[in-house]
Amino acid sequence: MTSPAAPLPWKLDLRGVCKAFRTSRGELHALRDLGFRMAAGEFVCLLGPSGCGKTTALNIIAGLEQADRGDVLIDGRPVAGPGPDRVVIFQEAALFPWLTVRDNVAFGLAARGMPRRERHRLAEAQLETVNLREFAAASVHELSGGMKQRVALARALALNPQVLLMDEPFAALDAQARESLHLELQSLWSSTHKTIVFVTHNVREALVLGDRVLVLSARPGHIKSEFRCDLPRPRSMESHMLIDSAQAVLADLRSELQAAQEDVHRDWLAP
Ligand SMILES: Nc1ncnc2c1ncn2[C@@H]1O[C@H](COP(=O)(O)OP(=O)(O)OP(=O)(O)O)[C@@H](O)[C@H]1O
Ligand SMILES: [Mg+2]
Repeated sequence: MTSPAAPLPWKLDLRGVCKAFRTSRGELHALRDLGFRMAAGEFVCLLGPSGCGKTTALNIIAGLEQADRGDVLIDGRPVAGPGPDRVVIFQEAALFPWLTVRDNVAFGLAARGMPRRERHRLAEAQLETVNLREFAAASVHELSGGMKQRVALARALALNPQVLLMDEPFAALDAQARESLHLELQSLWSSTHKTIVFVTHNVREALVLGDRVLVLSARPGHIKSEFRCDLPRPRSMESHMLIDSAQAVLADLRSELQAAQEDVHRDWLAP
């Protein structure tokens, strides 16, 4: 007799995550009871007011910070620290200016002990996927902001992580560079099926990229609501259907933005 197959654990499972910071003004509760789950290969966007704990949540998933309470599980196993299965991409590409584009992409592979020829081959293949193959030998200062973020993306993908954690990676880019990176990321995701958590302030960006959009409350952050986005890909920020969906998300987000604003005023007015 065969036993029924055990259900696969969630790729990412956050349960009751709480985090407070000790500050000069006392305890600051960044996250309270944050919980959500993701299946392998899902693309989820986290949207929420400034200071609601989005970066803190990513850092906890990355293993760079520790939750005070709650569980963070990857494939059913608790996160005990940073690991090769997760890579973070930040708002600023944080490339090494003294290295070529190719060596920036290959950097993490060197740390893993991969021989030089092989890591260069792999770095160039990754640069191809972000359309920067011909810039392999260029210096970082020759690149535009959008190109730098594409190098950061290639560097992250070279490590072949299962989970990509992206913290407002396109926030500093102009509209055109952002739109082309949206298209590239959608196509990369379709071909690699990475599990992606993408943090943004931008409602339309969240809807362009995500299978689901999770709206976080004002601090202490927890999931306030969830929107499923089923529009066919590739999506554009300018599509009418997307702009319509954005109205509903924005209406939901508005009260949290208001609450966050009042919080900031309280901070300023406090003695
Ligand atoms: N190391 C720290 N020490 C003290 N307070 C911190 C620390 N890190 C974050 N905070 C505070 O925790 C709260 C959440 O910060 P976090 O950076 O996670 O917010 P965020 O949602 O990413 O904001 P933004 O949208 O502006 O990037 C903020 O009030 C922040 O000031
Ligand atoms: Mg942040």
